[in-house]
Amino acid sequence: MAKTKATFVCQGCAATYTKWQGKCDGCGEWNTIVEEAARGPLPKGATGGKGGRKIAFVGLRGQTAAPPRRKTGIGELDRVCGGGLVAGSAILVGGDPGIGKSTLLLQACAGLAKASCAYITGEEAIDQVRLRAARLGLDSAPVHLAAATNVRDIVASLESMPTLDVAVIDSIQTMYADTVDSAPGTVTQVRTCAHELIQVAKRQGFALFLVGHVTKEGTLAGPRVLEHMVDTVLYFEGDRGHQFRILRAVKNRFGPTDEIGVFEMTDMGLREVANPSALFLAERRGNVSGSCVFAGIEGTRPVLVEIQALVAPTSFGTPRRAVVGWDMGRLNMVTAVLEARCGVALGSNDIYLNVAGGLRIQEPAADLAVAAALLSALSGEPVPAEAVVFGEIGLSGEVRAVAQRDMRLKEAGKLGFKRAWAPKLSSASDKRAGKPNGEIAVKDIGHVQDIVTQFGIDGGFRSGTGH
Ligand code: TYD
Ligand code: MG
Repeated sequence: MAKTKATFVCQGCAATYTKWQGKCDGCGEWNTIVEEAARGPLPKGATGGKGGRKIAFVGLRGQTAAPPRRKTGIGELDRVCGGGLVAGSAILVGGDPGIGKSTLLLQACAGLAKASCAYITGEEAIDQVRLRAARLGLDSAPVHLAAATNVRDIVASLESMPTLDVAVIDSIQTMYADTVDSAPGTVTQVRTCAHELIQVAKRQGFALFLVGHVTKEGTLAGPRVLEHMVDTVLYFEGDRGHQFRILRAVKNRFGPTDEIGVFEMTDMGLREVANPSALFLAERRGNVSGSCVFAGIEGTRPVLVEIQALVAPTSFGTPRRAVVGWDMGRLNMVTAVLEARCGVALGSNDIYLNVAGGLRIQEPAADLAVAAALLSALSGEPVPAEAVVFGEIGLSGEVRAVAQRDMRLKEAGKLGFKRAWAPKLSSASDKRAGKPNGEIAVKDIGHVQDIVTQFGIDGGFRSGTGH
């Protein structure tokens, strides 16, 4: 029998040491080295797999049916979940406090026709939840409501409800498992509680919603541990100052990610927004400089949003850059391309960029719309009325093709837009697929310089073209 000896293993990069040390030489992290009992080398002639049970391999093709889905009656929520709730799955709903997570899930519970739902609150008292239900007109819905925080009790209760279809835990940070010493809300507690609850959901076959609060840094408290444990992660986002709320799928084992659902917070709870583009453009004032309509895609849906820019001479040494709803790094890249490739002088200006309506855009396809908004703000010339813009900008200033061109143009047409600035169709197959776009006149943009000239800005040079 080989002797067991202890080794010290870094939990970050798996480097092994013969004695403990504070810092791992392999990855440079501190306090990641933990003692693990390791078995010595196997005796001569012994194979590692001896005595193991054979596992059965199967082909990729099988008889697995698509999982049955249960509709919550809230169309936007169902779509973000991939078409409804899957039995036995765990869904994490994250968001800032007060954004409307409890309201959404209470409405979902009440909307589940002919299903058995349990709503367990660890944050609010029974009376508070009842008051809200009464205000939303949902108090007659057959929801099993309880206020509890001890996971042992909750698991025992859920196990005694064999016909349960959906359970909501609001929130996972208030739950505690008495097997763990640390306080509720700590990583160990959150992980242990979530594990226990997910296990019971899988055993009993009900869909489990876990509500999770987001930290100031914008991640779910309990450093991302929960995201790995659940099947679906939804973020409920929005600006407290706006009434719009966006439910975004960032992970989904049973459906597409990056799908969004749009809601409006009213005094009668959350209302679904069937046509988000119309909503995001509702307050747009035409014919002003610095405003550009971007034809974007969120998940499987086209969404038109207004991008606003303000360019003003800086009064300090270093110009200010402020962005709401887009990526700061991406803005810096677009301004650098405009400066270096088209000679547009933005360097001594403060730049403010805002995506109207509180939406956060993640697509690179917004580059061209941002460039158009910036150029329009700089020149004081409005972007042509009734035009939408999209396209990705490369570092040499070239405008690259983006996915779902037709879908973007169709949505723009539906909302009454007549023109578009879009990347050139690149390959022959694209051209074949690109059907004539009826009422929309598309202007092909191959290089950012093409839109710079539209605004009458004379950059003076365009590098890389032989000057
Ligand atoms: P809540 O669902 O409690 O947020 P969370 O669970 O994410 O912390 O939502 C609270 C906010 O929503 C609160 O600021 C009031 C607002 N609200 C409405 O505007 N209308 C309503 O009908 C309800 C129920 C809440
Ligand atoms: Mg709440």
